[in-house]
Amino acid sequence: MKKKVLIALTKGRLEKDTTVLFKKMGFDISQLENKGRKLILSIPSQNIDVVLAKAADVITYVEHGVCDMGIVGKDTISEMGGSFFEISDLGFGRCHFALAGKKGIDFYKGYGVKTIATKYPNVARSFFQSKKMDVEIIKIEGSVELAPLLSLSQGIVDIVETGTTLNENGLEVKEFISDISARLIVNTASMKLKQERISEIKQLMEANL
Ligand code: PRP
Repeated sequence: MKKKVLIALTKGRLEKDTTVLFKKMGFDISQLENKGRKLILSIPSQNIDVVLAKAADVITYVEHGVCDMGIVGKDTISEMGGSFFEISDLGFGRCHFALAGKKGIDFYKGYGVKTIATKYPNVARSFFQSKKMDVEIIKIEGSVELAPLLSLSQGIVDIVETGTTLNENGLEVKEFISDISARLIVNTASMKLKQERISEIKQLMEANL
């Protein structure tokens, strides 16, 4: 019998991409495909349990060692940090962080301290720190694009995938910040205690990307 492995998986779009990946890996994904409202699903032939959670909670479960591995976006990793190993870039869930603002307006013009709205205050802070630029950051929980439209802020730091949301709201990218994609993370103790299984799963994943 293979050693049991718990994998925390970010609910939503990464979940769909990961289910496709598991299928390619030859895993029996019938429980994942017919999950209803269940939050822990088994891949019995592999002795793997898949835990469905919000992105930030995936990191929390992996950090605390209640899950051995996790699949989570680099956006959440960049914002939360934490102590775990990031062992693979899975390539899907690709998008990027950008600074955006109203179309046709020079964001950097003028001397006043700029206000930035974002769901990712730490990412925004370190971006402006790297530019040695003092900004005021306001945390927003969603639809950050509203902030410059309502004149709460001059800029936003947010995820851009297709650019449609920015475009349809009269906003544009002012500066690229960093690439985002799904990452495979591992608890530090599991990395030692379940090394063989973890590297077997990682290799099988990478061979099927
Ligand atoms: C994300 C992001 C942008 C949008 C970008 O929002 O915050 O609003 O997707 O995608 P696009 O470039 O393809 O238009 P999400 O859908 O997660 O909703 P939220 O802002 O309410 O969290």
